[in-house]
Amino acid sequence: MCGIVGVLGKHEVSPIILDALKRLEYRGYDSAGIATVNRGQLDRRRAVGKLINLSDTLVHEPLPGRAGIGHTRWATHGGPSVANAHPHQAGRVAVVHNGIIENFRALREELAAAGAHFSSETDTETIVQLASHYLDQGLTPVQAARATLKRLEGAFALAFLFEGEEDLIVCARRGSPLCIGHGEGEMYLGSDAIALGELTDRITYLEEGDWAILTRSGLQVFDAEDQQTSRPMTRINAAQARVDKSGHRHFMAKEMAEQPAVLKAAMEAYAGAGSEALDLPEGLDFTSADRLIMVACGTAYYACQVAKYWFEQFAGLPVEIDIASEYRYRAPVLGAANMALFVSQSGETADTLAALRHVAPHVGQVVAVVNVPTSSIAREASVVLPIHAGPEIGVASTKAFTAQLQVLALLALQAGLARGRLSAEDYRARLSELRAAPGFVAQALDREEEIRRMTEVLAKARDVLFLGRGVMYPLALEGALKLKEISYIHAEAHAAGELKHGPIALIDEDLPVIVFAPHDALFEKTVSNMQEVMARQGKVLLISDARGLVEAGDVPFTLQMPTVPDLIAPIVYAVPAQLIAYHTALHRGTDVDQPRNLAKSVTVE
Ligand code: M6R
Repeated sequence: MCGIVGVLGKHEVSPIILDALKRLEYRGYDSAGIATVNRGQLDRRRAVGKLINLSDTLVHEPLPGRAGIGHTRWATHGGPSVANAHPHQAGRVAVVHNGIIENFRALREELAAAGAHFSSETDTETIVQLASHYLDQGLTPVQAARATLKRLEGAFALAFLFEGEEDLIVCARRGSPLCIGHGEGEMYLGSDAIALGELTDRITYLEEGDWAILTRSGLQVFDAEDQQTSRPMTRINAAQARVDKSGHRHFMAKEMAEQPAVLKAAMEAYAGAGSEALDLPEGLDFTSADRLIMVACGTAYYACQVAKYWFEQFAGLPVEIDIASEYRYRAPVLGAANMALFVSQSGETADTLAALRHVAPHVGQVVAVVNVPTSSIAREASVVLPIHAGPEIGVASTKAFTAQLQVLALLALQAGLARGRLSAEDYRARLSELRAAPGFVAQALDREEEIRRMTEVLAKARDVLFLGRGVMYPLALEGALKLKEISYIHAEAHAAGELKHGPIALIDEDLPVIVFAPHDALFEKTVSNMQEVMARQGKVLLISDARGLVEAGDVPFTLQMPTVPDLIAPIVYAVPAQLIAYHTALHRGTDVDQPRNLAKSVTVE
């Protein structure tokens, strides 16, 4: 959460910082701000709400300067207000920060007792007050930054800018990502490489605990023990780091439409066109694993829930799954033969990362399925499987979900083969089913206009219920999450068979109930549960295939999906779940790509 940027430029930096912040706005949009040093003086502009407001402010009150830092905020401590917006400034120093300072209360009391006056409710202001205090004691800017860093507990990526220093930014990374960009006589920093994609393709990723001194002529990196160290500079694919909507109305629309191509790319990366053997990274050993532990958050967690069925069915592997924020605070029983698998689009989700760190010393294998291969989770896992989905900017995860499913399905098949539970023939047959997924997803996307019309009614609902059985239960959960996060309609999901144990009391003629039920082994059971809903006047939308819709009989609303093999049904049925949420949100006029209160990358616990 929160995005930070820093630029030591040859020209005015405010427009450059603003542009880089635009690419980080997915990390938070409660407020934004920029500080520069100009003729030795620190100055800043801040505005509540989206970046466009800061942009307007800068039109009326330009901010000159060739050295600057910028921030886009997802509020943690203190609501969205100008006073709480970054950069924070005290005396001769300004700071932007992503993360949480856990000991900020103690520091704040200490500083207030020493005479500091606080002007915000944020934890971040303690950083800047502390640095100012050290400057007042006669420390140099670099010494003051270093002394400040030593006092901070918690997770952060931050950047300091100092009065009188037009060729200096000090930055640090502990628990939140930070990368440095190398330009021609310019230096940049950003929360991720996407932010710097228009500026450079030469990136240095700071390691956990690093801090660094940036000047226009170079970069000095120090590790957590203050030893000067070197971190490699890598070339990134700048074209990939550049993101636009490619003519779509929203990033979410673009990302949904990309799914056939993304699934094809993921398949080709691991099972090159026509090849039978999977090209998997070394070190992945399903034969020695006695248990698979999968941990993730949100949509990635639902992908794990689907994959649990696959690993059990194809590989006979006992599977345990948990929500990352819960897992870390349990006392899980772990063993050297366990394989732990962490799924994350961003690879930066603080809860998932903390769970990985909690588990890693106790298990035999730590595997990550991520979209960002340079992310913290990828770096800390022993085996990394990228999902090859390309940048996902819309807050609602879409193409990452289906690509996660595709990669997890491949892993489950591989595990089945390796453990002798799946014959070579079955393995090949399942692989060719996965190869067909992009085509079926394209067919599901073709139902968009029909879905758009259906959602006119749904958009008026106060609550919506989603139902499914087996792998369609996590799909129902995913459908409810999508709808909640972008349309703000209350939605919940239940295993269809669980309805009669309580939630059926919710059913009345005003409650739309969306049922995911391909014609599979559980179809009859799901349809019986759907009948129970209809008998109580619930307004049902049944999403099924041709045979399912015929056998279900009279249902108020239906949506026909292509007839697909069971294995890929969750991937294909994810599409209507996404489109229902998207079009309901459009009817309600909500902000699809940047829904209220949310951020794309959740780097605080
Ligand atoms: O980057 P991650 O996959 O680790 O993110 C996990 C969740 O925060 C994420 O899936 C979230 O639930 C999405 N906004 C759902 O659309």
